[in-house]
Amino acid sequence: MGKISTGIRGLDEMLGGGLIPGRTYLVKGGPGAGKTTFAIQFLMEGVKKGENVLYVTLEEPLVTLVEDMRKLGFDLNHPKFNGIDATPVTEKTHLFAGAFYEEFGESFERLTTAIREKVEVEKYQRVAIDPLTMLKLTVKNELEYRKTFIGFLKALSKLGATVVITSDLRTSDIEEYLTSGVIELRTIEAGGKILRGIMVKKFRGSPFDEQIRPYRITDNGIEVYHTESLFVE
Ligand SMILES: Nc1ncnc2c1ncn2[C@@H]1O[C@H](COP(=O)(O)OP(=O)(O)O)[C@@H](O)[C@H]1O
Ligand SMILES: [Mg+2]
Repeated sequence: MGKISTGIRGLDEMLGGGLIPGRTYLVKGGPGAGKTTFAIQFLMEGVKKGENVLYVTLEEPLVTLVEDMRKLGFDLNHPKFNGIDATPVTEKTHLFAGAFYEEFGESFERLTTAIREKVEVEKYQRVAIDPLTMLKLTVKNELEYRKTFIGFLKALSKLGATVVITSDLRTSDIEEYLTSGVIELRTIEAGGKILRGIMVKKFRGSPFDEQIRPYRITDNGIEVYHTESLFVE
């Protein structure tokens, strides 16, 4: 089976070549771990290959993101890059042709509908939703959330796109069970320093590197050192 590159150097090696296309993956990590960077790198890898991509931002306004990502060398103002800004804000500046605004308000369904409407008119090979956390807060109870989330995943799987969902929830059991793979970005305090480690927790349908590996966020985005190990002296 063909795999697709995550766009992150070193991570593809950990995944035995990359992600399996058409599936949904969860990228977990605390604030500043690099989830947004991960999502954009993953999408821009698609853009580089001529794919259409869709980014849904729920926390960081698109306008800020465009700035931040420019510093990492990613130009989001590209005809193949499409963004839905569903952050609970602000001015709807005209950013670039592919930038859209959506009030997701208090409804998970509303966003799913917005995504569906987008993909009905155009096909996307890669989709990222960053982060899921905001949506989870909109659902009243656990059961309701489970139902909604399962429905959401079902809708996503019909798109044929490879999907990355980010989450900063420490407990995200059902998300981990229901997605095809889980990648965790961890920060570990050791000897007065912060170490960053990346781990593939689960990857259905493929062997993977079971070790936690060091990573850095550099001017080129996330870099994984897949032949090194994360150890404390
Ligand atoms: N050029 C860079 N060099 C080093 N670190 C960077 C660079 N650009 C951003 N960062 C770091 O990346 C992190 C932001 O990553 P981000 O993807 O926004 O994380 P998250 O979405 O998980 O909160 C911050 O900790 C920031 O300091
Ligand atoms: Mg983020």
